[in-house]
Amino acid sequence: MKHFLNTCDYTRPELQAMLDEAKRLKDSPMGDALKGKTVALLFLNNSLRTRTSFDIGAHQLGGYAVVLSPSGGMWPLEFEDGVVMDGDAEEHIAEAAGVLSRYCDLIGVRAFPKFVNWEEDRKDKILNGFAKYASVPVINMETITHPCQEMAHIMALQERFEKQGKGELDGKKFVLTWTYHPKPLNTAVANSALMIAAKFGMDVTLLCPTPDYVLDQRYMDIAKKDTGEQGRSLTVTHDIEEAYSGADVVYAKSWGALPFFGNWEPEKPIRDAHKHFIVDEKKMAMTNDAVVSHCLPMRRNVKMTDAVFDSPACMAYDEAENRLHVQKAIMKHLLG
Ligand code: CP
Repeated sequence: MKHFLNTCDYTRPELQAMLDEAKRLKDSPMGDALKGKTVALLFLNNSLRTRTSFDIGAHQLGGYAVVLSPSGGMWPLEFEDGVVMDGDAEEHIAEAAGVLSRYCDLIGVRAFPKFVNWEEDRKDKILNGFAKYASVPVINMETITHPCQEMAHIMALQERFEKQGKGELDGKKFVLTWTYHPKPLNTAVANSALMIAAKFGMDVTLLCPTPDYVLDQRYMDIAKKDTGEQGRSLTVTHDIEEAYSGADVVYAKSWGALPFFGNWEPEKPIRDAHKHFIVDEKKMAMTNDAVVSHCLPMRRNVKMTDAVFDSPACMAYDEAENRLHVQKAIMKHLLG
């Protein structure tokens, strides 16, 4: 049984086949691939795009989506194995996954890190627990990576480059830039952006304020392997001009520095000192007429100026729309 937990579990041709299916579904949205099928969508964190696009996507393919969340009255879950459940949790993940598998044909899981202990968070226990105990395919709806966002991003890039006559993604300069945010955020989208840009043959640059903001070695290694195998590069820089010069793609995201998980006090002054990492017109002028995007939600004029976000270079709406199409393709793929 296949899950959709991380894009690194799939080859580039396998992902491209799903992207091609997503493009067909964009042209012809309705179908019956999920007729009589039910999708459980478990949200342990907030969402606008993921929740809406999965729900509508299941409906458009003839299926039905059930949204579950703690605020919606779900029993508090226990995720650790072998514990004495004398705390708040009323139900173990084993039973939750097992029972949902009897009712549903797919299970989607959103479970962000707790931001207290990265060594624990990086185990991705909730997602992996569902994959272990469910007897139906599980989809990662964002945990410590965000593979559905990756797919939507690549689809939007391929569409945009084709429309602009810029050709394939291979060899394009992709810049993932850290941006300021008042709070330390999940590294999921940053991990994902790095991996998918590498997988699709781009020269990848990670721009971040200091070495503390470099991403988890697991994702750096995956990106390094994929770029290396395709004769491409993976560069880490703290120099804004070096990163933006000649860029074809600028992807903006904020994230908390991994060494400060559990003690964010000393990280805040570093973050506050780098508000100038905002994506603005001056930086975009250094690029090779780059497209720019963000996964959303995004704080305007904190991460990206209005002038850039509202410019024709920005493809954030296309990327958000494509969540619907790629997720339908993923659900179809998993149901075979
Ligand atoms: N990009 C994204 O996943 O959006 P939501 O958090 O609104 O689902």
